[in-house]
Amino acid sequence: MSNVIQEFSRFAHAYDTYNVIQAEVAKALVKQLPSSHYATLLDIGCGSGEVYKNIEKNNCSFEHFIALDSSPEMLEIHPSGENIEKICADFNNRKTFDTFSLAHPSLILSSSALQWSRDLDFTLSEISKKASHAYFAIFTSNTFKTLHQTAHISSPIYSEDILKTTIGKYYQATFELKKYRLYFETVREMFTYIKRSGVSGGEKQLTYKQTKQLMETYPLDYLEFEVLFVKATSLDIHSI
Ligand SMILES: C[S@@+](CC[C@H](N)C(=O)[O-])C[C@H]1O[C@@H](n2cnc3c(N)ncnc32)[C@H](O)[C@@H]1O
Repeated sequence: MSNVIQEFSRFAHAYDTYNVIQAEVAKALVKQLPSSHYATLLDIGCGSGEVYKNIEKNNCSFEHFIALDSSPEMLEIHPSGENIEKICADFNNRKTFDTFSLAHPSLILSSSALQWSRDLDFTLSEISKKASHAYFAIFTSNTFKTLHQTAHISSPIYSEDILKTTIGKYYQATFELKKYRLYFETVREMFTYIKRSGVSGGEKQLTYKQTKQLMETYPLDYLEFEVLFVKATSLDIHSI
Protein backbone atom coordinates (compact mmCIF):
# COMPACT_ATOMS: atom_id res chain seq x y z
CA MET A 1 0.00 0.00 0.00
CA SER A 2 1.41 3.35 -1.00
CA ASN A 3 1.46 6.27 1.41
CA VAL A 4 2.72 8.79 -1.09
CA ILE A 5 0.98 12.13 -0.90
CA GLN A 6 0.53 13.88 -4.21
CA GLU A 7 0.40 17.65 -3.92
CA PHE A 8 -1.37 20.20 -6.08
CA SER A 9 -1.88 23.90 -5.94
CA ARG A 10 -5.31 25.29 -6.64
CA PHE A 11 -3.68 28.27 -8.27
CA ALA A 12 -1.29 26.46 -10.55
CA HIS A 13 -2.51 27.45 -14.00
CA ALA A 14 -3.19 23.94 -15.29
CA TYR A 15 -5.33 23.07 -12.30
CA ASP A 16 -7.52 26.15 -12.22
CA THR A 17 -10.80 24.24 -12.06
CA TYR A 18 -13.11 22.82 -9.46
CA ASN A 19 -12.36 19.20 -10.23
CA VAL A 20 -8.58 19.14 -9.95
CA ILE A 21 -8.44 16.06 -7.77
CA GLN A 22 -11.20 14.13 -9.57
CA ALA A 23 -9.40 14.74 -12.88
CA GLU A 24 -6.15 13.43 -11.38
CA VAL A 25 -7.96 10.40 -9.93
CA ALA A 26 -9.64 9.52 -13.25
CA LYS A 27 -6.27 9.75 -15.00
CA ALA A 28 -4.62 7.44 -12.43
CA LEU A 29 -7.50 4.96 -12.65
CA VAL A 30 -7.43 4.71 -16.45
CA LYS A 31 -3.63 4.28 -16.39
CA GLN A 32 -4.15 1.00 -14.53
CA LEU A 33 -6.32 -0.58 -17.22
CA PRO A 34 -4.83 -3.47 -19.19
CA SER A 35 -4.37 -2.74 -22.89
CA SER A 36 -7.11 -5.16 -23.92
CA HIS A 37 -10.07 -4.99 -26.25
CA TYR A 38 -13.56 -4.86 -24.73
CA ALA A 39 -17.01 -5.22 -26.23
CA THR A 40 -18.33 -2.66 -23.76
CA LEU A 41 -16.90 -0.25 -21.21
CA LEU A 42 -19.41 1.00 -18.66
CA ASP A 43 -18.54 4.17 -16.69
CA ILE A 44 -20.72 4.52 -13.60
CA GLY A 45 -21.14 8.13 -12.43
CA CYS A 46 -19.38 9.29 -15.60
CA GLY A 47 -19.85 13.03 -14.98
CA SER A 48 -18.45 15.22 -17.74
CA GLY A 49 -16.31 12.38 -19.13
CA GLU A 50 -12.93 12.45 -17.37
CA VAL A 51 -12.70 8.66 -17.68
CA TYR A 52 -13.70 8.65 -21.34
CA LYS A 53 -11.24 11.44 -22.22
CA ASN A 54 -8.38 9.50 -20.62
CA ILE A 55 -9.38 6.24 -22.27
CA GLU A 56 -9.20 7.92 -25.67
CA LYS A 57 -5.50 8.58 -24.93
CA ASN A 58 -4.87 5.03 -23.70
CA ASN A 59 -4.26 1.59 -25.19
CA CYS A 60 -7.56 0.15 -24.06
CA SER A 61 -9.96 -0.27 -27.00
CA PHE A 62 -13.70 -0.93 -27.10
CA GLU A 63 -16.67 -1.24 -29.42
CA HIS A 64 -19.25 0.39 -27.21
CA PHE A 65 -19.01 2.88 -24.34
CA ILE A 66 -21.85 3.33 -21.87
CA ALA A 67 -21.78 6.56 -19.87
CA LEU A 68 -24.14 6.29 -16.89
CA ASP A 69 -24.99 9.21 -14.60
CA SER A 70 -28.05 10.40 -12.69
CA SER A 71 -27.48 14.00 -13.77
CA PRO A 72 -28.83 15.01 -17.21
CA GLU A 73 -26.65 18.16 -17.10
CA MET A 74 -23.51 16.03 -16.71
CA LEU A 75 -24.52 13.65 -19.50
CA GLU A 76 -25.15 16.65 -21.72
CA ILE A 77 -21.50 17.73 -21.47
CA HIS A 78 -20.08 14.17 -21.64
CA PRO A 79 -18.48 13.56 -25.07
CA SER A 80 -20.90 12.08 -27.61
CA GLY A 81 -20.25 9.73 -30.48
CA GLU A 82 -21.63 6.86 -32.53
CA ASN A 83 -20.29 4.27 -30.11
CA ILE A 84 -21.22 6.18 -26.95
CA GLU A 85 -24.52 5.41 -25.26
CA LYS A 86 -25.68 7.69 -22.46
CA ILE A 87 -27.89 6.32 -19.71
CA CYS A 88 -29.48 8.72 -17.24
CA ALA A 89 -30.01 6.56 -14.17
CA ASP A 90 -29.38 6.30 -10.45
CA PHE A 91 -27.05 3.58 -9.14
CA ASN A 92 -29.11 3.45 -5.93
CA ASN A 93 -32.14 2.27 -7.88
CA ARG A 94 -32.88 -1.39 -8.67
CA LYS A 95 -34.55 -0.55 -12.01
CA THR A 96 -31.29 0.96 -13.30
CA PHE A 97 -29.67 -2.45 -13.48
CA ASP A 98 -32.60 -4.02 -15.37
CA THR A 99 -32.26 -1.57 -18.25
CA PHE A 100 -29.02 -2.88 -19.77
CA SER A 101 -26.82 -5.95 -20.08
CA LEU A 102 -23.20 -6.09 -21.14
CA ALA A 103 -21.70 -8.27 -23.86
CA HIS A 104 -18.58 -10.30 -23.14
CA PRO A 105 -15.87 -9.17 -22.46
CA SER A 106 -16.87 -5.98 -20.70
CA LEU A 107 -15.25 -3.81 -18.10
CA ILE A 108 -16.89 -1.62 -15.48
CA LEU A 109 -15.26 1.61 -14.36
CA SER A 110 -16.23 4.15 -11.76
CA SER A 111 -14.17 7.16 -10.73
CA SER A 112 -15.00 9.46 -7.78
CA ALA A 113 -18.68 8.46 -7.73
CA LEU A 114 -19.37 5.39 -5.61
CA GLN A 115 -18.74 7.24 -2.32
CA TRP A 116 -22.27 8.56 -2.94
CA SER A 117 -23.88 5.12 -3.02
CA ARG A 118 -26.66 5.17 -0.43
CA ASP A 119 -26.38 1.41 0.08
CA LEU A 120 -22.97 0.21 -1.03
CA ASP A 121 -23.97 -3.45 -0.54
CA PHE A 122 -26.84 -3.03 -2.98
CA THR A 123 -24.90 -1.06 -5.60
CA LEU A 124 -21.90 -3.38 -5.59
CA SER A 125 -23.99 -6.54 -5.66
CA GLU A 126 -25.78 -5.23 -8.77
CA ILE A 127 -22.58 -4.04 -10.46
CA SER A 128 -20.79 -7.33 -9.77
CA LYS A 129 -23.48 -9.25 -11.69
CA LYS A 130 -22.93 -7.19 -14.84
CA ALA A 131 -19.30 -7.94 -15.70
CA SER A 132 -16.48 -10.02 -14.27
CA HIS A 133 -13.92 -7.20 -14.01
CA ALA A 134 -14.13 -3.71 -12.57
CA TYR A 135 -11.84 -0.81 -11.67
CA PHE A 136 -13.02 1.70 -9.09
CA ALA A 137 -11.64 4.84 -7.46
CA ILE A 138 -13.65 5.82 -4.38
CA PHE A 139 -13.10 8.73 -1.99
CA THR A 140 -12.79 7.64 1.66
CA SER A 141 -13.87 9.29 4.90
CA ASN A 142 -10.32 10.60 5.41
CA THR A 143 -11.11 13.15 2.72
CA PHE A 144 -11.24 16.53 4.54
CA LYS A 145 -10.13 14.65 7.68
CA THR A 146 -8.64 17.62 9.57
CA LEU A 147 -11.54 19.83 8.54
CA HIS A 148 -14.05 17.34 9.93
CA GLN A 149 -11.99 16.93 13.13
CA THR A 150 -11.72 20.69 13.62
CA ALA A 151 -15.47 21.11 13.18
CA HIS A 152 -16.27 18.01 15.28
CA ILE A 153 -18.35 16.46 12.54
CA SER A 154 -18.18 13.02 11.00
CA SER A 155 -17.52 12.36 7.34
CA PRO A 156 -20.64 11.69 5.25
CA ILE A 157 -18.77 9.06 3.20
CA TYR A 158 -17.50 5.50 3.81
CA SER A 159 -14.26 4.65 5.62
CA GLU A 160 -11.48 2.67 3.94
CA ASP A 161 -12.37 -0.34 6.14
CA ILE A 162 -16.05 -0.34 5.24
CA LEU A 163 -15.24 0.05 1.55
CA LYS A 164 -12.79 -2.87 1.64
CA THR A 165 -15.11 -5.16 3.61
CA THR A 166 -18.12 -4.43 1.41
CA ILE A 167 -16.17 -4.77 -1.84
CA GLY A 168 -14.75 -8.08 -0.51
CA LYS A 169 -18.27 -9.54 -0.32
CA TYR A 170 -18.71 -9.27 -4.10
CA TYR A 171 -15.21 -9.17 -5.54
CA GLN A 172 -11.77 -10.58 -5.16
CA ALA A 173 -9.91 -7.31 -5.10
CA THR A 174 -6.57 -5.58 -4.72
CA PHE A 175 -6.45 -2.15 -3.16
CA GLU A 176 -4.23 0.90 -3.28
CA LEU A 177 -4.78 3.96 -1.11
CA LYS A 178 -3.68 7.34 -2.44
CA LYS A 179 -3.58 10.63 -0.59
CA TYR A 180 -3.73 14.03 -2.23
CA ARG A 181 -3.23 17.58 -0.95
CA LEU A 182 -4.65 20.64 -2.61
CA TYR A 183 -3.06 23.92 -1.51
CA PHE A 184 -4.84 27.28 -1.30
CA GLU A 185 -3.73 30.85 -0.78
CA THR A 186 -6.65 31.72 1.48
CA VAL A 187 -9.05 29.79 3.67
CA ARG A 188 -11.95 31.49 1.91
CA GLU A 189 -10.86 30.02 -1.43
CA MET A 190 -10.65 26.63 0.24
CA PHE A 191 -14.23 26.80 1.46
CA THR A 192 -15.49 27.99 -1.92
CA TYR A 193 -13.72 25.01 -3.48
CA ILE A 194 -15.42 22.59 -1.07
CA LYS A 195 -18.81 24.05 -1.89
CA ARG A 196 -18.32 23.92 -5.66
CA SER A 197 -16.36 20.70 -6.07
CA GLY A 198 -19.14 18.45 -4.75
CA VAL A 199 -16.64 16.11 -3.12
CA SER A 200 -18.16 16.24 0.36
CA GLY A 201 -21.47 17.25 1.83
CA GLY A 202 -19.75 17.69 5.23
CA GLU A 203 -19.86 21.44 5.52
CA LYS A 204 -23.63 21.43 5.00
CA GLN A 205 -23.90 20.12 8.54
CA LEU A 206 -22.69 23.50 9.81
CA THR A 207 -24.49 26.78 10.39
CA TYR A 208 -23.12 30.04 8.98
CA LYS A 209 -21.65 30.90 12.38
CA GLN A 210 -19.99 27.49 12.74
CA THR A 211 -18.55 27.74 9.23
CA LYS A 212 -17.11 31.15 10.05
CA GLN A 213 -15.54 29.78 13.22
CA LEU A 214 -14.14 26.79 11.33
CA MET A 215 -12.55 29.12 8.79
CA GLU A 216 -10.80 30.92 11.63
CA THR A 217 -9.49 27.77 13.28
CA TYR A 218 -8.68 25.40 10.38
CA PRO A 219 -4.93 24.76 10.89
CA LEU A 220 -3.80 23.78 7.36
CA ASP A 221 -3.28 25.66 4.10
CA TYR A 222 -4.38 22.62 2.12
CA LEU A 223 -7.30 20.22 1.86
CA GLU A 224 -6.79 16.49 2.30
CA PHE A 225 -8.21 13.86 -0.01
CA GLU A 226 -7.93 10.08 0.23
CA VAL A 227 -8.94 7.70 -2.53
CA LEU A 228 -9.16 3.92 -2.59
CA PHE A 229 -8.19 2.46 -5.96
CA VAL A 230 -9.69 -0.99 -6.54
CA LYS A 231 -8.95 -3.69 -9.12
CA ALA A 232 -11.76 -6.19 -8.80
CA THR A 233 -12.78 -9.59 -10.14
CA SER A 234 -16.39 -10.55 -9.49
CA LEU A 235 -17.17 -13.50 -7.24
CA ASP A 236 -20.58 -13.87 -8.90
CA ILE A 237 -20.31 -17.16 -10.78
CA HIS A 238 -23.17 -16.10 -13.06
CA SER A 239 -21.39 -13.01 -14.32
CA ILE A 240 -20.04 -13.45 -17.82
C1 LIG B 1 -17.41 13.73 -8.45
S1 LIG B 1 -18.28 13.38 -9.93
C2 LIG B 1 -17.14 12.34 -10.83
C3 LIG B 1 -17.40 12.36 -12.29
C4 LIG B 1 -16.42 11.57 -13.17
N1 LIG B 1 -16.51 10.14 -12.94
C5 LIG B 1 -15.01 12.05 -12.99
O1 LIG B 1 -14.15 11.23 -12.65
O2 LIG B 1 -14.74 13.24 -13.20
C6 LIG B 1 -19.52 12.22 -9.37
C7 LIG B 1 -20.56 11.89 -10.42
O3 LIG B 1 -21.40 10.87 -9.91
C8 LIG B 1 -22.75 11.16 -10.27
N2 LIG B 1 -23.63 10.52 -9.30
C9 LIG B 1 -23.77 10.81 -7.98
N3 LIG B 1 -24.71 10.02 -7.43
C10 LIG B 1 -25.16 9.20 -8.42
C11 LIG B 1 -26.13 8.17 -8.47
N4 LIG B 1 -26.83 7.84 -7.37
N5 LIG B 1 -26.35 7.52 -9.64
C12 LIG B 1 -25.64 7.87 -10.76
N6 LIG B 1 -24.70 8.85 -10.78
C13 LIG B 1 -24.47 9.50 -9.62
C14 LIG B 1 -22.82 12.67 -10.22
O4 LIG B 1 -23.90 13.17 -11.01
C15 LIG B 1 -21.46 13.07 -10.77
O5 LIG B 1 -21.49 13.25 -12.17
